Amino acid sequence: MITIDKEKCTGCLTCLSVCPFTVLEEVDGKPQLAEGKCCMACMHCAAACAEKAISFGEQEAILQSALTKMPEGFDKELKGHILRRRSYRHFSSEKVDRKLIEEALEIASWAPSAKNQHPTKWIIIDDSTTLEKIMGHILKYAEENNISPEIISEYAAGNNVVMGTAPTMLLAYASDYAISAETDTAIAMTTAELYLQSKGVGTCWAGYFKRMCNAVPEIKELLPKIPRAHSFYGAFMMGYPKDEEYLHIPERIKRADIKWV
Ligand SMILES: Cc1cc2nc3c(=O)[nH]c(=O)nc-3n(C[C@H](O)[C@H](O)[C@H](O)COP(=O)(O)O)c2cc1C
Repeated sequence: MITIDKEKCTGCLTCLSVCPFTVLEEVDGKPQLAEGKCCMACMHCAAACAEKAISFGEQEAILQSALTKMPEGFDKELKGHILRRRSYRHFSSEKVDRKLIEEALEIASWAPSAKNQHPTKWIIIDDSTTLEKIMGHILKYAEENNISPEIISEYAAGNNVVMGTAPTMLLAYASDYAISAETDTAIAMTTAELYLQSKGVGTCWAGYFKRMCNAVPEIKELLPKIPRAHSFYGAFMMGYPKDEEYLHIPERIKRADIKWV
């Protein structure tokens, strides 16, 4: 729970105005935790406090690094980056730098999530033998159960639609009881993807891979055990792009469909 340093607090009550759930109330001109309210530890109160008077128990409630101003022209840079993002499926055999993946997933912790639950956890597979074994199980399962026959026909034609030629695969899992596991995972992954692509890493969402990892028990045996009532909610192919460069931004046939009321 958050704690308020009454010495530092000037009673401006900005913290009350930004709290999403009226967890704070005013008592004698100063903020105080209201009885029976549940704090979701979003730290908005601390982020808005000019006096740095709020902490989270023994922990810091804010980062010590200074909040930088948005540079001039950032909107155009950001728009360009979003339009340049592509799904890459052709990679060199070089594994993606582990420190860079960890940095991207750390940054993804700042993505929004329902009730600030941040339910998504990560498994990264960059062992080529394990990836080959997983692909073998996927092909067998698809054949035996007549599921997604294009996985098999494309593979036979030299095109792996499940993993591309990725040396690294990322899996995201979460509790099935999280309020919004699929959405939270998608937002975290989108955040990580935009950062990874800004650092020269190619990514592609891997829907087949995610589905198969949920469906095929033999694949789960090759991976770290995930807790009961948890599922895979997302996956990426990852690597350094090879023989794949986009010179233009593709047209989007389906553009924003908006109704104003
Ligand atoms: C949830 C999701 C699952 C996807 N699964 C796969 C996949 O299994 N294999 C694949 O090659 N591409 C997959 N894609 C990539 C899409 O085909 C791609 O995003 C789309 O064609 C648009 O291309 P772009 O991302 O380069 O703009 C997936 C994308 C999403 C969002």
